[in-house]
Amino acid sequence: MESRDVIEHNYKQGRNYVENIINELAVLVENACKSKNNIFGYGIWSHHIKPMIPIGQKLAEEYGADKEIVTIAILLHDLASIQDEKNYKEHHIIGSQNAEKILKGYNYPQEKIEKIKLCILNHRSSVNNDKSSVEELCVADADAIIHLTEISSLFYAAYKEMGKSIEEGQKWIKEKIKKDYKKISERSKTKYKDEYETIIKLLEE
Ligand SMILES: [Fe+2]
Repeated sequence: MESRDVIEHNYKQGRNYVENIINELAVLVENACKSKNNIFGYGIWSHHIKPMIPIGQKLAEEYGADKEIVTIAILLHDLASIQDEKNYKEHHIIGSQNAEKILKGYNYPQEKIEKIKLCILNHRSSVNNDKSSVEELCVADADAIIHLTEISSLFYAAYKEMGKSIEEGQKWIKEKIKKDYKKISERSKTKYKDEYETIIKLLEE
């Protein structure tokens, strides 16, 4: 699914103003992913951000969260490190600040901007921030679940991006999956238990 499919998907919901923003953000993020500056490769769009959207929207339905907030936060959550690898360590903080600038450019309501900023700020399983809303929970859960459903992207990160040895890569992926799973909500743990156990079993030496 390219960014125009995200556009079509959102048009079906019949909310022009928000749809236009979501569509434009999808194009913005997909283009950033295509850029040479993006050290993660185009896969961060095709195998991370884009497939996170339906997962996050499903979670939003289950948790009674605001789908619009979840969708926009997912689109923007990793943008800071995609645009500049130097931002990686603090991409949750910089990304949250940049999201405000981008969304203000659309005259997007400030109260919703604040919610999106919190989703981006608290999305990382490696950064132990408390989540104060169901929207934050949906984005963080989707960011972890996507590693279970798009496991190949972690192999790509370990072996291609980080140049790890077979053993190091195996250990890194296993630790990452364990850390992600530990941080997701109890409901998501139950739902993805089989995938989690299968992956861990495969990665055991
Ligand atoms: Fe992410």
